[in-house]
Amino acid sequence: MEKGYAIVTGASRGIGKACAEQLAKEGYDVLINYSASKERAQENAKNFSEKYGVKTAIFQANVSDYKKMEEMRDFAVETFGENLQVLVNNAGGGHMAPFLDLPFEIMEETIDVNLKGTMYGFRLFGPLMIKNNYGRIISIASSSGLRSTPNNSSYQAAKAGVIGFNRGMAIDWGKHNITCNCICPGFVLTEAGEALGEEFIQQIANNSPLKTIGHVEDIQKALSYLIHSNVMTGQSIAVNCGTCMW
Ligand SMILES: NC(=O)c1ccc[n+]([C@@H]2O[C@H](COP(=O)([O-])OP(=O)(O)OC[C@H]3O[C@@H](n4cnc5c(N)ncnc54)[C@H](OP(=O)(O)O)[C@@H]3O)[C@@H](O)[C@H]2O)c1
Repeated sequence: MEKGYAIVTGASRGIGKACAEQLAKEGYDVLINYSASKERAQENAKNFSEKYGVKTAIFQANVSDYKKMEEMRDFAVETFGENLQVLVNNAGGGHMAPFLDLPFEIMEETIDVNLKGTMYGFRLFGPLMIKNNYGRIISIASSSGLRSTPNNSSYQAAKAGVIGFNRGMAIDWGKHNITCNCICPGFVLTEAGEALGEEFIQQIANNSPLKTIGHVEDIQKALSYLIHSNVMTGQSIAVNCGTCMW
């Protein structure tokens, strides 16, 4: 099959950037979405196209803004055409606090970005994949969607929602040769994670059965496996050093 293109949301840094790089490395043209970090997105686009010889473009859209996401879909079709093969719903994150201390707006935003943003991705980009009778959709959920820890309930609800939604879509879109899977990272070291300090990170490692933490390369490997598999769908792969087992 002729290589098409991929879209990665939240690809200015962290796990999203690593996913976009992996896809470029595997020969996909890549649309890099970001919400605020334009320069980083531009730098990634330039680096990936120079390094891997693929076409790249960037688009600013808050994934929880359906209208902006529609604009991104139109931009993707104008720029890359209709052969969309991979969608990575990555943009997301959360804030830890006791539930009643979490500002109402943050509670809403957590659901909007993580869950609704993922649903919007399916809704807007899925029709292109249905038309092509091929697609690989990977949603970056979290181990927090599989198990609970203190003071993180809104994020857990959002990610558990992503996992449930993914399962439903895997059933509905299997007939279109579209696979839908989640990757559920545990702690993965990114720039944001580094800011937590060595001692804190070591503590996280010590709490895991493998006594270590994840790196973006571990997510890249899981992504690569999922886009090449014709039989994995509706699954949620926990890449988490054994911090919870599913
Ligand atoms: N790192 C971990 O330990 C870990 C563990 C479990 C799950 N996860 C999940 O993995 C995903 C990536 O996490 P990360 O640690 O790589 O995050 P990160 O380093 O904070 O990066 C987040 C990325 O998402 C973008 N983004 C944030 N909000 C957005 C929005 N509303 N619309 C579009 N883009 C948005 C950011 O772009 P701008 O800079 O332009 O805002 C940035 O590129 C998230 O879904 C997170 O919940 C991460």
